[in-house]
Amino acid sequence: MYRTAVVALALGVAACTQISMPEAPEGQRLFAKNCVQCHGVSGKGDGPWASLMTPQPSDLTQLSINGVFSRARVLSIIDGYDRTGLPGKGMPEFGDLLEGDTIPVDVGDGVLTPTPRPLAALLAYLESIQE
Ligand code: HEC
Repeated sequence: MYRTAVVALALGVAACTQISMPEAPEGQRLFAKNCVQCHGVSGKGDGPWASLMTPQPSDLTQLSINGVFSRARVLSIIDGYDRTGLPGKGMPEFGDLLEGDTIPVDVGDGVLTPTPRPLAALLAYLESIQE
C-alpha cells in the first residue's frame, strides 16, 4: 500500500516536470466555446450578444498597455479575482469553470504561480492575438 503511494507520487512528480505553458491553439478552442458569444470570433468585442450589453464587451486584441501584456491582470479578470478598473459587471467569472490540473505560469513577476491549465491556455491565446 505504502509502496504504491510512493510510486504514484514519484510518477506524479515526473509528470509535473514535463508540464509547460500550453500553446495558443489550445486556448483558442476554449475561447471559441466560452467567450465568442460576447467577445466575437476575432476577440474584438463583436460577438452576437454584444449589442445587448452595456458596457460593450472589450476588444481583447487591445489588452497590452504600451506593448506589455499583463498576464496577472488578465488572469485575475477572467477568474473573477480582481476586476478593479472595469467599467461594468457584464463579464462572467470563469474561476469555477476553469479548474483543473495546475501548471506553473510566470505571471510577470518572475514567480511561478500555479494556474489551472485552461486559464493558462486562454492566456497564451489572448497574448497571441494582441495587435
Ligand atoms: C456574457 C458575455 C461575456 C462572455 C461570455 C465573456 N466576456 Fe469578457 N467581458 C464582457 C464584458 C461586457 C466586458 C467589459 C467589462 C465590463 O463589464 O466592464 C468583458 C471584459 C473582459 C476582459 C477585460 C478587458 C479589459 O478591457 O481589460 C477580459 C480580459 C475578458 N473579458 C476576457 C474574456 C474571456 C477570456 C472570456 C471567455 C473565457 C470572456 N471574456 C467571456 C463580456 C463577456
